[in-house]
Amino acid sequence: MHDFYYKSRRFCCESVDVTEVARSIGTPVYVYSHKTLTDHYKKWDRALSGVEHMICFSVKSSSNIAVIRALVRCGAGLDIVSGGELFRALTAGADPAKVVFAGVGKTEEEIALAIKEGILMFTVESMGELELINKVAGSLSTEARIAVRINPDVDPGTHKYLKTGKKQSKFGLEMENAYEVYEAVNAMPNVAAKGIQMHIGSQITDAAPYVESLEKMVPFSERVKKICPGVEYLDIGGGMGIVYTNETPATADDFAKAVLPLVKETGLKLIVEPGRFIAGNAGILVVKALYVKRTPSKTFVIVDGGMNDLIRPALYGARHEIVPVVREERETITADIVGPVCESGDFFAREREIPAPRSGELLAIMGAGAYCFSMSSNYNSRPRAAEVMVHGGEFEVVRKRETYEDLVRGESVPDFLL
Ligand code: LLP
Repeated sequence: MHDFYYKSRRFCCESVDVTEVARSIGTPVYVYSHKTLTDHYKKWDRALSGVEHMICFSVKSSSNIAVIRALVRCGAGLDIVSGGELFRALTAGADPAKVVFAGVGKTEEEIALAIKEGILMFTVESMGELELINKVAGSLSTEARIAVRINPDVDPGTHKYLKTGKKQSKFGLEMENAYEVYEAVNAMPNVAAKGIQMHIGSQITDAAPYVESLEKMVPFSERVKKICPGVEYLDIGGGMGIVYTNETPATADDFAKAVLPLVKETGLKLIVEPGRFIAGNAGILVVKALYVKRTPSKTFVIVDGGMNDLIRPALYGARHEIVPVVREERETITADIVGPVCESGDFFAREREIPAPRSGELLAIMGAGAYCFSMSSNYNSRPRAAEVMVHGGEFEVVRKRETYEDLVRGESVPDFLL
């Protein structure tokens, strides 16, 4: 599952002692295992080997160019959602022909850039977007490839903020409206339909919602192929869940076993867009305990990382395991593990039993490889954490800790205030 483990009492990533990383780089620091990342990619690749497929890593989950590069070198394609992510993908050496571009609000500039770079296809979410892509491709005297994102109206049984495949969601189009979009493609000179896409949500631990969606997608794809015979790809999105605490998610093989028979029925090439499955357990956030504050009603362990570094507990009530980086014999306390940010929502865990840390000791927040650094901010004017990648017995900084100068870069005082 991952390459973080105790070697006697010391927490290691691959063959690197996490304490050494913190000593040389400081805290808070994200530590990624190259081996875990690439092993997770290979798991999917093996699981899908029975069909023609492409694994497009979802860049939004972990966007560091070193992470992208590691996966691109394994053969990964990429799922992007902005011009910024396209820039990262290209900087990391991705092949644009393996890039799919999703999102409900692509701008004209983003569309133009992606067409010029020659991405595989846009996932179209509305008729208005299709019209704009056609216009931009026309002005560049070329043809843009598209898939239509379908909203199959299936409940993926996940956190309400992580559901995207229900009718009420802003994402995708219902099948009945999607036919019109494929027909419209045929009437437009500068777009070609290459695929059908869906993405029903995130941290989905069971293959059943995918099967339920695909049972609708199979007959749908038959009709679509009649309208647009050029359709080649069935992109079933990402969303496959991982273990944070005591979940028992379907494995890549379980997913494959459940969905591949349906995919084969369509005769289309498969695209999957996993983010969390690949990156989630490939990273930790290492923080340092600053104070243990005991009040008559509660104990707080105050650490030097905050919700600006890792917002998932505050935003979704997500539970991440938190473990000591050096295991000592200690009394166990029940404490809230909180950051320095001026918000009551700034917590990593509530009422958590942990071995009582002493000031200066390090804690590792597990499952921090996806949607953690990539969702971090400078709130409270806190420089963002460093990111480190471990490879065997070596580690390298892949993003420097921000400085105070970084915080004000691009800002200026207007003339009238000078
Ligand atoms: N494809 C599309 C079109 C997506 O919107 C997403 C994620 C993915 C693929 C990858 O999903 P994954 O395999 O990583 O579940 N911030 C939330 C997760 C938001 C997911 C957004 N879309 C979190 O921290 O749990």
